[in-house]
Amino acid sequence: MAGLAAVATASRRRTALARAASAEAEEGVPRRVALGLGGTALLLTTLKRFAIDGPPEFDPKPNSMSGKTVLITGGNTGLGRESAVRLAKAGATVVLTTRSEAKGKKAVEEVKAASGSSDVHFLKLDLADLKDVKAFKNCFTSQDYGKRIDVLMNNAGVMAIPERQETKDGFEEQLGVNHLGHFALTGELLPLLQKAPSARVVVVSSTAHLGANKELMEGDLMAPERYTQWGAYCQSKLANVLFAKELNRRLQEAGVNATAVSCHPGGVDTDLARWTISPDGDPQKATQLRKDTPWADALATFLTRSVQLGANTQVYLAAGGDGGYKKSGGEYFDNMAPGLLNPVANDQALAKDLRTKQRRQNYVTESWMKIIEDYVFSIIQLYSFVHS
Ligand SMILES: NC(=O)c1ccc[n+]([C@@H]2O[C@H](COP(=O)([O-])OP(=O)(O)OC[C@H]3O[C@@H](n4cnc5c(N)ncnc54)[C@H](OP(=O)(O)O)[C@@H]3O)[C@@H](O)[C@H]2O)c1
Repeated sequence: MAGLAAVATASRRRTALARAASAEAEEGVPRRVALGLGGTALLLTTLKRFAIDGPPEFDPKPNSMSGKTVLITGGNTGLGRESAVRLAKAGATVVLTTRSEAKGKKAVEEVKAASGSSDVHFLKLDLADLKDVKAFKNCFTSQDYGKRIDVLMNNAGVMAIPERQETKDGFEEQLGVNHLGHFALTGELLPLLQKAPSARVVVVSSTAHLGANKELMEGDLMAPERYTQWGAYCQSKLANVLFAKELNRRLQEAGVNATAVSCHPGGVDTDLARWTISPDGDPQKATQLRKDTPWADALATFLTRSVQLGANTQVYLAAGGDGGYKKSGGEYFDNMAPGLLNPVANDQALAKDLRTKQRRQNYVTESWMKIIEDYVFSIIQLYSFVHS
């Protein structure tokens, strides 16, 4: 009997121990899950805060831009519109460019409402049409505000068009809009920049410039057989950096009181990815398609910074946050500090070659050759004018 009792006691103890262990395990699962989730959330928050979002919003001091005229290309949406709001808030006269009158009127209303400034204007400009670019200076100077430009922000851009497209003048679209259109525009507007006591050209490039190597920049840049949707974007963004450096070098050489700088805004939640989402590149369809796929929308939102944070570096440079327009000539910025630069961007021979190549290529018509020669050399003529 005693033996039986001992066995029963031992069995009860085992059961009790097993129950206790199981209860502890049950309690441990939620605790481990909670710890795991907490750790992941912390990691993701840290990643978002430091690697994706970058520094907190930079706002130039109120009135710090008073008396300055800022021209921003591509001002109806994304980084251009946000830059317009922030610079208008700081007292600048802001002129934004848009591709249509309707977009321009809407953008001006939005920027006025968000900034509280009434000194906001728009002018039509299609950078994919050199005639439009050529006509722009007269449109600008015929306005009351059109006496001079203190800051030219070359911001407009297109990214990753799947099939090769051409501008009205026969340039490959991405290089044509992102670089050549702005190159021509800057050349045309140099006399107005020279009228400012101290001026600055801010070229909005991208970290995608790191994706372009020397081979990509050599030969016929816009040859149809060489086209890839990302290759052309990277090429155009390296051309932006090269242009800012070369322009700055020439401005200093000519003794012009102006600097040119370039920058990367970060990966920003704007309409820029329109071509990677909607087959026809329509921003409204792209937005709708994103909304229709909530997980993709959430992922895209997580992986990009807000437009407010994205506009930081170009606003910082436009406001002379780096110490004034005389500083940082030719430099490339990211997160409001000198950024990681492609060594090819320091290749002066390539920068010069890029310029001469623009006139030597023969994949477009003679009339195009004439137009681009006029533009390319308008810059040089202006430099000689300054020298004389
Ligand atoms: N968002 C990013 O993650 C990111 C990253 C690196 C660099 N960037 C650079 O930041 C700049 C601004 O881009 P975003 O992100 O603000 O893109 P976005 O929201 O798509 O804005 C682009 C602007 O460029 C205009 N534009 C396009 N083609 C034009 C043309 N042919 N003539 C005149 N304007 C034209 C657009 O006008 P429509 O609305 O009429 O098309 C729009 O106003 C670009 O240079 C881009 O390469 C952006």
